[in-house]
Formats: sequence, C-alpha cells, structure tokens
Amino acid sequence: MSFEWNEDLATGIEKIDNEHREVFKQINKLLDAMDKGKGEYAIREVLVFLEHYVTTHFTEEENYMVEHSYEGFHTQRTEHTRFIKDFYLLKKELLQSGMNLHLIVKAEQVLGNWLINHIKVEDKKMALALKKG
Ligand SMILES: [Fe+2]
Repeated sequence: MSFEWNEDLATGIEKIDNEHREVFKQINKLLDAMDKGKGEYAIREVLVFLEHYVTTHFTEEENYMVEHSYEGFHTQRTEHTRFIKDFYLLKKELLQSGMNLHLIVKAEQVLGNWLINHIKVEDKKMALALKKG
C-alpha cells in the first residue's frame, strides 16, 4: 500500500503542500523498506529522515499559526504531538522487535492514514482561516 498526495489534500499554501508531498514520499519509502524486509540500517535511515522532516514541518506550521494568531492552534498542536508520540512508539517497536505484518499495518494507520485525515480536516481548516484573515 502506498499513500499519494492528491488535489483533495491541497491547502493552497504552496510551501505546506510541497512539504506534505514530501512527507507522503517518505512514509511510502518507509513502508516499502518494511514491506521488502530491508535491514535495520535501511529502516533506521528512513526513520531518521522522516522524524527530522516531520518535526521541522510541524514547527514551521505551528510558527505560521502563531504568527497569524490562528485560533485552532491548540488542536493542531495536540494532533502534531500525538503523531510524534505514535511515531516514536512505532520506531521503538520496529527497532526492538524487527519487522512483522502487524507493524506494517500499524505504520499505515499511524502515519499514512493519520496524515491524510489531519491534512483534510485540520490543515485545510487552518489554510482557509489564514487566507481569509
Ligand atoms: Fe498540521
């Protein structure tokens, strides 16, 4: 399974949309590495990149919201924090117990499905409010 960015997920803020495309790419890279049973080194490499990229992306989004006094900031921040927490748990489990089907399904849910839902609901709401303001 892979996750694709599509117009339905467009916020209309180019920088954010480009970063979302990249996050999908990295999630797919991770799922692919897991799927193909690649070694710990390869998996770790994707995890490190994804963690760094997503953390930077969330910080940028949050700074943008603060700059514009966005009222939905706390909801956004709570969701971002939850993602990071789930990501760490997944990373820990993955590095500890190695690959298994249960972890692939979990990764699809906590990373891919989470991202789609978050963009569709919260990021689009934010973009709409900030464009108006
Ligand atoms: Fe967000």
